[in-house]
Amino acid sequence: MNCCVVGLQWGDEGKGKIVDTLAEHSDIVVRYSGGANAGHTVIVGDDRFALHLLPSGAVRPNVVCVITNAVVVDPDTITKEIDSLAQKNITLDNRLFISENAHLVLDYHKKEDQLGEESLGKNKLGTTIRGIGPCYADKVGRSYAVRMADLRDLKELGAKLESIVDRKNKVFAALYNAEPMSAAGLLEKCKSYAERLLPFATDTTEFLHKSIMDGKSILFEGAQGTLLDLDHGTFPFVTSSNSSALGMPAGSGVPSKMVDKFLGVAKAYTTRVGAGPFPTEQDNDIGQYIREKGGEYGTTTGRPRRCGWFDAVGVSYAATIGAIDSVALMHLDTLTGLKEVEICRAYKIKGKETTFFPSNTARLSEASPIYETIPGWEEDISKVSDFHDLPTNAQNCVCRIEEMIKKPVTIIGVGPERSETIFR
Ligand code: GDP
Ligand code: IMO
Ligand code: MG
Repeated sequence: MNCCVVGLQWGDEGKGKIVDTLAEHSDIVVRYSGGANAGHTVIVGDDRFALHLLPSGAVRPNVVCVITNAVVVDPDTITKEIDSLAQKNITLDNRLFISENAHLVLDYHKKEDQLGEESLGKNKLGTTIRGIGPCYADKVGRSYAVRMADLRDLKELGAKLESIVDRKNKVFAALYNAEPMSAAGLLEKCKSYAERLLPFATDTTEFLHKSIMDGKSILFEGAQGTLLDLDHGTFPFVTSSNSSALGMPAGSGVPSKMVDKFLGVAKAYTTRVGAGPFPTEQDNDIGQYIREKGGEYGTTTGRPRRCGWFDAVGVSYAATIGAIDSVALMHLDTLTGLKEVEICRAYKIKGKETTFFPSNTARLSEASPIYETIPGWEEDISKVSDFHDLPTNAQNCVCRIEEMIKKPVTIIGVGPERSETIFR
């Protein structure tokens, strides 16, 4: 069976934990979008892994890991990840495949991201400064893009970098009065990238289709979340790729028809990092309670995440455009101890009630949430393994969310560990 796991909110839903858990029964795990802006946490016993580019199946020694064409690969980050796993005796040799068509995030992309954000002042997007937007912009622009396969001909790459760096230096100097970068220095780095990464480079589309023909079970791992999708999210406060389920076919070369199940991941509340509208945000004691109890600090940047109530309007929309079959509802345990839990069932926009998420961000900014209140629960639920053993109010909370989003909740997260998971 092939399955695709995708975030239904603004990222950090707990995809890493779910992918790691499901990877036990998968042959291959595939990252198909985004870059090192992602931070996916996997906890195995006392070990905590924060994966940015490697698929979350990487910590299981028998799982093959694939990074496909639409991922923007930061060679420094991925080499560090490979090395840090090796230090724990987890080797990626012969089981990591990186698309030769994947674009490379180079130093000037990160510099451009940082300079661009700084210059925007209070209008900044709040990016992760991982060079994601500038790298995807170069991909779309084509002429100044560098792909994995370019590392194979360092002479030609050297000439290309001369012209790219010259151009970037002129632009950065003119716009930001920035110091010039050296093309020769970057080429030196590319030589070591070639040595380290080319052994993993291949045609991942061919590999995946052959694997499907061989009956292998493939798990596709989304990065970010549907509401951060470049085309379908809260533009411009989004990432620069199609981070919804709709990005999976183009991102991997495998049509969604070949995927048996799309599993959406959402938290029992909402978080967001960076700027942009967030109708159910609780910039108050409730938000602070959730942040501290849920450990809501960025896996990639360490920034405190903005926290708020579960938004059934946003999650329904994400589940609809992703044709989601079922949902994993994470962090139910984080809500333990609250007197009451609010769930946003609809928005009021200009005096009119709606349950459909507005595609226009200005309209979303005008939305005020309409809440349904559920009584809370006090009992520790982290050791519960059967849904019916949850406190009645916690069961009600899950059931109301299920009714509002019109999708079955088949997995419930009650803690960060692999074992702290309820399957229904
Ligand atoms: P991802 O980007 O979607 O993979 O999510 P992150 O790893 O960035 O953030 C999710 C955080 O929540 C991590 O620290 C996980 O260890 C933790 N986590 C995942 N599921 C649960 C859960 O059900 N309960 C609790 N308390 N923590 C969880
Ligand atoms: P995972 O995979 C949460 C957010 C940034 C910023 C916006 C644009 O861990 O869920 P970018 O660096 O992509 O140009 O930033 O997107 N963002 C994420 N927020 N989780 C992520 O990934 C994110 N990746 C990007 O905070 O608001
Ligand atoms: Mg994350």
